[in-house]
Amino acid sequence: MNKQIVILGSINYDITASAERLPVRGETVSATSVDMFGGGKGANQAVQSAQMAIPTTMIGQVGNDMQGKAVLEALKSKGIDCSRLHISETNRTGCASIYIDPNGDNMLAYAPGANHHITKEMIDNGLDIIRQASVFLTQTEINLDAALYGLKLAHEAGAITILNPAPAISLPDEIFPLVDFITPNETESEVYTGILRSEMPIEDWKQRTAEWFISRGVKNLCITMGEKGAFYSNGTESISVPAFSIKAVDTTAAGDSFHGGLAYGLANGYDMKTCLLLGSACGALSAMTLGAQNSIQPKERVLAFLKEQGIII
Ligand code: RIB
Repeated sequence: MNKQIVILGSINYDITASAERLPVRGETVSATSVDMFGGGKGANQAVQSAQMAIPTTMIGQVGNDMQGKAVLEALKSKGIDCSRLHISETNRTGCASIYIDPNGDNMLAYAPGANHHITKEMIDNGLDIIRQASVFLTQTEINLDAALYGLKLAHEAGAITILNPAPAISLPDEIFPLVDFITPNETESEVYTGILRSEMPIEDWKQRTAEWFISRGVKNLCITMGEKGAFYSNGTESISVPAFSIKAVDTTAAGDSFHGGLAYGLANGYDMKTCLLLGSACGALSAMTLGAQNSIQPKERVLAFLKEQGIII
């Protein structure tokens, strides 16, 4: 199998304010720092993938502005192939405003800008690369028609397709059979399925959630549950892995890092439990440092962290 990962996704400029506590409605709190980071779910996933030393191409769009130039340079510096990225003259680079507190809890508001104006032509411009991909990963932080079109192309090309349905939006039924792996977090799962965690024991909730997605044509479900770990099901086999015990500083890109590690594992043909452990280790390490892309760790650190936990890959 050709080991190459293609990510069609969002690219943001993150402005992160760290404060002793999160503001409440109408309140101004004093921040201990305000920092700027490369962000966006797609770009964060691409950075983790590239940090795992696997060829990674990003398809997406930034604006022709200061933020776009900064995030583009950051992605190139990580070795990501940005030759299929578009620079919009009419839409600004996506931007996220994030608040975090000392517990690592956060609040986030996001203006999609150019991320919501990705056209079929822009994706077609990456078709040759999509046809070479072993894994294709997209999210719903870009316009849905773009994600759907990319999934169709990648599915036809025979890539393993991953849809990270974040943020939760309304999905058409036709998308599910194109998806090999759907990867909501706990909250997103509840929004999509209407099956609430609080209404049943967790094992029942996992199984019923899996049945919901798989009955719609998805082949595999992977739920990321933060400090409760990750759950996988293909409808017949299920695996739960606990979260690694860490002191979370900022969980902003933890879920995205998980995806980079998962994609790396799948591209390399690892068994499912190993893929989950790789993703979980990437996510845990990312949560230990402030910021999005700058918190994402290289393969050597990920493997060393796993070894410290007694897991040799
Ligand atoms: O998943 C984290 C990302 O979501 C941040 O980097 C921010 O840009 C938002 O899109």
